Amino acid sequence: MAIFCRSASFAVRQAASFVFTGARRYSTDAHFEFILANKRGVKENVGLIQLNRPKALNALCDGLMQEVNQALDGFEGDSQVGAIVITGSEKAFAAGADIKEMQNWAFPACYSANFLSHWNRVSSARKPVIAAVNGFALGGGCELAMMCDNIYAGEKAQFGQPEILLGTIPGAGGTQRLTRAVGKSLAMEMVLTGKRLSAQEAMQAGLVSGVFPVQQLVPEATRCAEKIASNSKIITAMAKEAINAAFELPLAEGNRLEKRLFHATFATEDRKEGMTAFVEKRKVSFQGK
Ligand code: HXC
Repeated sequence: MAIFCRSASFAVRQAASFVFTGARRYSTDAHFEFILANKRGVKENVGLIQLNRPKALNALCDGLMQEVNQALDGFEGDSQVGAIVITGSEKAFAAGADIKEMQNWAFPACYSANFLSHWNRVSSARKPVIAAVNGFALGGGCELAMMCDNIYAGEKAQFGQPEILLGTIPGAGGTQRLTRAVGKSLAMEMVLTGKRLSAQEAMQAGLVSGVFPVQQLVPEATRCAEKIASNSKIITAMAKEAINAAFELPLAEGNRLEKRLFHATFATEDRKEGMTAFVEKRKVSFQGK
C-alpha cells in the first residue's frame, strides 16, 4: 500500500506519532509531506523510500530528512522488511541540501542547533540500504547516497559535490565517504572544482555497483533488496557490520572483529540451517535466529 503524499504538516505529525507509538509500529498508511514510503517485493520484504519534492528537485529540507528518518525507523522496526531502497525521481535523486533554507543561517545558529546532526541516520541503519540514483545526486544528495550501503545508478545519473561553488564545503560526510570510495585525487578534483561524474564514470571510479536504464533502476534495486531480504536477517546484519568496520578500524582489528562475528554465526540457528540444507540438498529456510 502506498503512503500518500499530502502537503498538510498535520498529516506529518500524525504519521510521526503513529510510527513511534507503542512498540514502534509502522503504518504503510501513514502520510508524509516530502516522501513516499511503501513496501515492495513479492513478499513485501523491501521498504521503499522515495524522495518526493519534485518542484525543488528533491532538495533536502529539514522536514524531508526528518521524514526519511521516521520511515527508516519504521522499516527498521518492521520484522517483515529485510532491506531498504531509497530513491528519488527520474530527474533528481536530490539536488543537495535546501539552499533557500540555509541561505540566511549564521554560525551561532548552525552551531547551537547542531545543524545536520540528525542527517546521518541512514548510515546507522542496521538493515541494508540501497540508493537507487536517477538524475542529479549533488551535494547533500550525493552524501545521502553515499551513506547507503551500495549505490545503483540510472544511466543518466550525475554525482557531484558542488558546495565549493556556493562558498561552502560538504557537511554530511562528502569529503570522507567520497574520498574512501573514489580515492584522493578524484575526490579532490570533485570537491575543489564541483566537477560532476556521470553514471559510467561513477561506475569506473567504484562509487556505484551497477548502472541500469532509467526505468529499470528501481525494479533492479528492488530485486537486489529482495535477494538480500531472502537471506538470514541476523547474518546479513553481521556481514554489514563487518564490512562497515573496514572503514573505521586498522586491518588487524578489522580482521579480529570479522573473526569474532564469524564465530558468532555459529551461535545462530540460521547458520546451522544454512549448512544443513546444503548437505541435505534441500531449499534453505532462514528464520532470522
Ligand atoms: C533549493 C533547489 C536546489 C537546492 C534546485 N532547486 N536545487 N532549491 N536547494 N539545492 C530548485 C531551484 O531553485 C528551482 O526552483 C528548481 O529546484 C529547479 O531547479 P533549476 O535550477 O531550475 O533546474 P535545472 O536548470 O534543471 O538545474 C538543475 C541543477 C540546479 C543543476 C541541479 O538546480 C542546481 O545547480 N542546483 C543546486 C545544486 C547544488 O549546489 N547542490 C548543493 C547544495 S549545498 P525555483 O522555484 O527557483 O524555480 C549542499 C550542502 C550539503 O548540499 C551539506 C550537508 C548536507
